[in-house]
Amino acid sequence: MTGRLDSTTAIVTGASSGIGAATARALAAEGAAVALFARRRDRLEDLARELDGASVHEVDVSDADAVRRAVDEVAQQRGGVDVLVNNAGYGSMDLARDADLAEWQKMVDVNLHGVLSTTHAALDHLARSARGSRGIADVVTVSSVAGRSVTGPGSNIYAATKHAVGAFSEALRQELAEQHVRVGLVEPGLVDTELTNTGDDNKPDASQASELGLLHADDIADAVVYVVTRPARAAVNEMLVRPTEQEN
Ligand SMILES: NC(=O)c1ccc[n+]([C@@H]2O[C@H](COP(=O)([O-])OP(=O)(O)OC[C@H]3O[C@@H](n4cnc5c(N)ncnc54)[C@H](OP(=O)(O)O)[C@@H]3O)[C@@H](O)[C@H]2O)c1
Repeated sequence: MTGRLDSTTAIVTGASSGIGAATARALAAEGAAVALFARRRDRLEDLARELDGASVHEVDVSDADAVRRAVDEVAQQRGGVDVLVNNAGYGSMDLARDADLAEWQKMVDVNLHGVLSTTHAALDHLARSARGSRGIADVVTVSSVAGRSVTGPGSNIYAATKHAVGAFSEALRQELAEQHVRVGLVEPGLVDTELTNTGDDNKPDASQASELGLLHADDIADAVVYVVTRPARAAVNEMLVRPTEQEN
């Protein structure tokens, strides 16, 4: 069976659970060889066993040197990088007056610096792939509805990091358009993943659960696949996907 991403290589960060694991499966189902990035190697190895051509890269995205080594290793082993999905993320939702500064630092390190360092490490490889036979390459960053508007008290630094990656993504889009590297954001509302369902008070609020329920990780994976399978002339720069009954 032929897939729309045959002969491509995709890096997915945060591939050990939730949206990242679903996205890795969905890209592999379209024929991509997927490089799985996260810290929990055992989870990545379990997923890699399911997927044709997947590779495992135990990497902390807040460690820029480790990220660069891993991205270069993928490019060398696979002959390039066609798709980067910046998905790794962390959320903590304390009110500012109660917040632990270490939690704020962690969100900045993972949600912002992680996106910056992974994207920076991949840029030359993506531009080279775009000059190849496929004629296009993609950066997709999983932001959030909280990257478009502040969704309520407690979303302070999480929203700040997601707004920041939105600004970065738009700047990058303008810089890379001529090189045929498409840059897009996928912005989920509440998704049923470890981020929302561990019952920790500091995690994003899943209390808007309703008759139809939260999004599934696959719903966001579908959006990512849509973005990276458009014809080369069409760039989907932003896609907001909320549960039907989510108001904000
Ligand atoms: N769930 C939601 O409602 C929702 C809504 C909007 C946006 N999002 C965004 O969606 C993305 C994925 O989240 P999710 O809901 O799928 O949550 P999740 O199941 O908790 O997944 C988070 C992923 O990020 C990885 N990660 C965290 N810190 C990392 C680090 N320092 N280095 C490398 N990887 C790291 C985790 O892997 P390891 O722990 O193995 O490293 C894990 O694979 C995040 O960017 C999140 O902000 C989620």
